[in-house]
Amino acid sequence: MPSDSVADTARSARGLPSSNRWKKVLITGASSGIGEAFARQLAAEGSDLILVARGVEKLNEIAQELEQSHGVQVKVCEADLSAPVARAAIERLLADPELPIDLLINNAGFGTNGDFSELPIAREEQEVQVNVVAVLRLTSAALPAMLQRNSGAILNVGSIAGLYPAPGSATYCATKAFLCSFGDSLFEELRGTGVSMTTALPGFTSTEFQKRSNWEDQRSVPKAAWLTAAKVAADSLDGVSARKARVVPALGYRALVSATAPLPPSTRRWILGRGSRALR
Ligand SMILES: NC(=O)c1ccc[n+]([C@@H]2O[C@H](COP(=O)([O-])OP(=O)(O)OC[C@H]3O[C@@H](n4cnc5c(N)ncnc54)[C@H](OP(=O)(O)O)[C@@H]3O)[C@@H](O)[C@H]2O)c1
Repeated sequence: MPSDSVADTARSARGLPSSNRWKKVLITGASSGIGEAFARQLAAEGSDLILVARGVEKLNEIAQELEQSHGVQVKVCEADLSAPVARAAIERLLADPELPIDLLINNAGFGTNGDFSELPIAREEQEVQVNVVAVLRLTSAALPAMLQRNSGAILNVGSIAGLYPAPGSATYCATKAFLCSFGDSLFEELRGTGVSMTTALPGFTSTEFQKRSNWEDQRSVPKAAWLTAAKVAADSLDGVSARKARVVPALGYRALVSATAPLPPSTRRWILGRGSRALR
């Protein structure tokens, strides 16, 4: 087990009470980017982890490093979350009352870049499986056990793209819009229970995401718009601790969301149509 002083120092550095830490956390998509940043921050706070992704070698490396540096227990689960059989194994873990998981982070996801009519439909369908169906199923598996214990939290990593449907990422934006709506509904359903639901809506974040989404040239995005995975993870975890329904990491993105919220849908669509084409 971790030394309490290391864990408590990490928590107090973030202004959180030491008693508030999550004992066991399951993170999907923990092999890189934002998911890896969650793993690093939570291990430093003393949480035991279950890391899920396809890239098992990378997961094992991260697990070994975190166990050695923080004394936490880290279990690795290789799973393709687009595949029902692999997903079912993770669902069983989440539903197991003998293995209470305090925090589920549905982070795994990817995007596809291009006009919908030109993108292979099999990949779009896989995107819906990972970004939406896996979140739905893992949340459904985790909730009864959390409600029974009257404690727990779920964090879904959506995207600011969920608020701004845009050409060139029709499926991606739609999957993330699903998470915004799903998360808001569950937030209210869970009100008054000891269980909470938070949706994080990050903007552009420097990770493997862009390369994997086949978005090679990002020069049109101003440098100042890029967030680090560590910042997104830290703000999102603070949002979970504060039991917020939604978290938009970084002031600039919060200002953008506030400024654009009052615009009529047709105006937003027109601006986004032109803006997104300029970015591609
Ligand atoms: N980067 C951004 O600009 C940005 C902005 C807003 C929201 N987000 C969201 O943030 C989340 C994390 O993305 P990231 O930026 O950290 O990208 P990333 O570095 O590409 O990480 C994505 C993670 O998802 C996992 N994953 C992808 N497909 C999977 C599958 N079929 N089964 C299991 N795991 C799978 C990957 O692991 P394996 O490949 O090893 O399976 C990886 O660990 C995503 O939901 C993304 O939509 C990203």
